[in-house]
Amino acid sequence: MMGQKRHDKMMEFTFNVNGHPVLPSYYLSAGAILIILVLSKYFVASCRPRNFPPGPRTLPFIGNISQVPRVKAFLKFHEFGKQYGSILGLKLGSQNVVVLNSYKHVRALFDQKGSIYSSRTRTYVANELVCPNEIHLLLLEYGNEWRKQRKIVQSLLNVNSVDRLLPIQNAEATQTMLELLQSPQDYYDHIRRYTTAVILASVYGQRGERFDAPNVKALYHAQDQFSAILEQGATPPVETFPFLKLLPEFMAPWKKWARTVREEQKGLYLSLLNETRERMESGRGPACYMQEMLRDQVKNNMDDEHIAYLAGNLMEAGSDTTASTLFSFILAMIKYPEEFRKAQREVDQVCGASRSPTSDDVDRLPFIKACMDETLRWRPVAAGGVPHMLTQDDTYQGYFLPRGTIVFANAWAIHHDEAEYDKPEEFIPGRFLNNKYGTRYAVDESKDANRRESYGFGAGRRVCPGQRLAKNSLMLNMAKIAWGFDLFSSGGSGSVNVDVASAYTDGFLIAPEKFPVVFKARSDQHRDVIIREYEAVKPFFDKYMD
Ligand code: HEM
Repeated sequence: MMGQKRHDKMMEFTFNVNGHPVLPSYYLSAGAILIILVLSKYFVASCRPRNFPPGPRTLPFIGNISQVPRVKAFLKFHEFGKQYGSILGLKLGSQNVVVLNSYKHVRALFDQKGSIYSSRTRTYVANELVCPNEIHLLLLEYGNEWRKQRKIVQSLLNVNSVDRLLPIQNAEATQTMLELLQSPQDYYDHIRRYTTAVILASVYGQRGERFDAPNVKALYHAQDQFSAILEQGATPPVETFPFLKLLPEFMAPWKKWARTVREEQKGLYLSLLNETRERMESGRGPACYMQEMLRDQVKNNMDDEHIAYLAGNLMEAGSDTTASTLFSFILAMIKYPEEFRKAQREVDQVCGASRSPTSDDVDRLPFIKACMDETLRWRPVAAGGVPHMLTQDDTYQGYFLPRGTIVFANAWAIHHDEAEYDKPEEFIPGRFLNNKYGTRYAVDESKDANRRESYGFGAGRRVCPGQRLAKNSLMLNMAKIAWGFDLFSSGGSGSVNVDVASAYTDGFLIAPEKFPVVFKARSDQHRDVIIREYEAVKPFFDKYMD
């Protein structure tokens, strides 16, 4: 009886007066309740959690999204820091984000609580479409696979084995000097060729002889596509609207794009692996990291794809980062010519005019080292930091940081903190001469233990494992350029734009936009030495050509 009554009641409301079917009112109310529930879920999720670090007011549903620029957000975070303090809490939609604008917080969280602050956020496009099967070290969540791959990379990049690469770096830097002499207008390509060639030789035992050589071009193309698809906003917000995953490829062109990037990258990395394997099997070619990885393949339990990507990761992580730092150095040298003259004087004292500096000289070049440290401080490449993800709820200085929070160590703000650095906007290498931290005060290491000299390489368990390799390249090229060339801007130093907001590229890694600079050999003798040294180094390259 009861059932019949309910059925009648339902029928009563299923047609309107015109006989058109309508939804029964309780369906409507259920729908409305569902919508309200979903909306309130998103509303609540966009509010800051209790005791979350301070930050700007959130707006319903979007949190702080509208206040955070899509590009160079690190500048805005620095500005917010002045208003809200050095630890900043933000809501990007429902995502909790914390920005650390002081090295003290980075040390306390990334360095001292590394077991919970070392993960990465998993995203559908990056971790499932473009790099599935846990193949990309930089993108890996904290766990066993990351540990395994990180251990392999650290053993490859240990101090001794990295220093064994110095002959490659010396030879490639010698070629770069010749290229800068012959076609200075293409300096951007020459520097990028250098950084790629060093990794190609050390990882694959291959030469990157010219910037337009097929292997160099292929690597840059794959890498540019990879960076482009991972760029914020390049693909729809699948994490917020998971139903987007279900769209077929013809309705979601970004899925096709992801597939193309995946195929190109995988094809390239596997073919580089196979070339090395063939050379090994026929007993040809120089020693390289790929050879070591293949030799230890079974011991490390790594299949071909994982090895191929690990090698590819070294390429991706080590090439543009080092090139960008060298560009910033050149930019600083034309903006601050008096600092460049100091660098030249120092190299002249050590090498004279009859030979250019090599890696054997770098320990006697403290001002060049100060220039390197200052470049890394002044224009950190990963300016906003590479985001870490917190894997457990945590409390810090009375604040509550929920599990899943994305945490940025904002290298830009840390390196431009006026409390730490005198005139942080200025390029002043001298600050690093008597104080390895470059700070305006002498650091008392007994009270300020485990402070890092630079936060440009990140911190904690994910800190860059390629620092030494990068610094060897930076020192060598900075010293050689200062030795061989006068650098200037045709409009004079006053016309050089060094503003990070307008003179630097957007994106997760920043670099100076190509800027006009004149490279002029310092004398005929310098010119002759550059040519002679290149001729002398040519036979070194023979073993990489087959
Ligand atoms: C000036 C040059 C370089 C800079 C500024 C730089 C900076 C960074 C930064 C900021 C990170 C992220 C750290 C974090 O999450 O806290 C990183 C990670 C990494 N870097 Fe570098 N890097 C440079 C050169 C290199 C080189 C030459 C290599 C190796 C050939 C390399 C290999 C890596 C790898 C494999 C990672 C991923 C580590 C992981 O997620 O566990 N980097 N780098």
